[in-house]
Amino acid sequence: MGNTPHIHQSGSQPAQFLVDNITLLPKGWVFDVAMGNGRNAIYLASMGFNVEGVDISFEAVNNALELARKAGVTIRAETVDLETKYSIKKDSYNIIICFYYLQRSLITQIKDGLKVGGVVVYETYIVDQTKFGRPKNPDYLLEHNELLDMFRDFRCLRYHEGIVEDRMATASIVAEKI
Ligand SMILES: C[S@@+](CC[C@H](N)C(=O)[O-])C[C@H]1O[C@@H](n2cnc3c(N)ncnc32)[C@H](O)[C@@H]1O
Repeated sequence: MGNTPHIHQSGSQPAQFLVDNITLLPKGWVFDVAMGNGRNAIYLASMGFNVEGVDISFEAVNNALELARKAGVTIRAETVDLETKYSIKKDSYNIIICFYYLQRSLITQIKDGLKVGGVVVYETYIVDQTKFGRPKNPDYLLEHNELLDMFRDFRCLRYHEGIVEDRMATASIVAEKI
């Protein structure tokens, strides 16, 4: 591996795309969709944001709360199944982030959950990912340009799509609600 910079999409380090674009984010309330162990939520809390997150996994939510405590930051975290009755609070957040979780039915809720001037940060796998491994199910893979098209009514501040480090295929967007 040498000193090659490593793009993080799991583990305890925040996502590189989030770190790289932190200066584009308005301060305020963040909602982290499918937060997992809270790597991004904890990072944002440490950068001065107020963060709420949800995940279906009780264990992941508990880990996130424990890791936040160890990091000396406070986050709100709740165990929730986003595919059932849960709805993101409308017009409530300055930022909504979603990393490595694709539920197409949630896109309208993400848009509605943001205040005007709020920003979405979304990154997940695209169809080319099947060359490298999981996921293989097209329900969990973005088509080419799909993420860009999903937020066509937002102002796109950053977009990247393609193969990263010859080992994964992703699309990433930062876009502002106008
Ligand atoms: C690949 S992990 C990504 C976690 C985190 N966003 C990150 O980047 O570190 C996907 C997460 O989605 C969560 N998840 C799966 N189905 C869900 C659902 N129906 N509602 C809420 N969370 C769900 C899983 O528990 C898991 O933590």
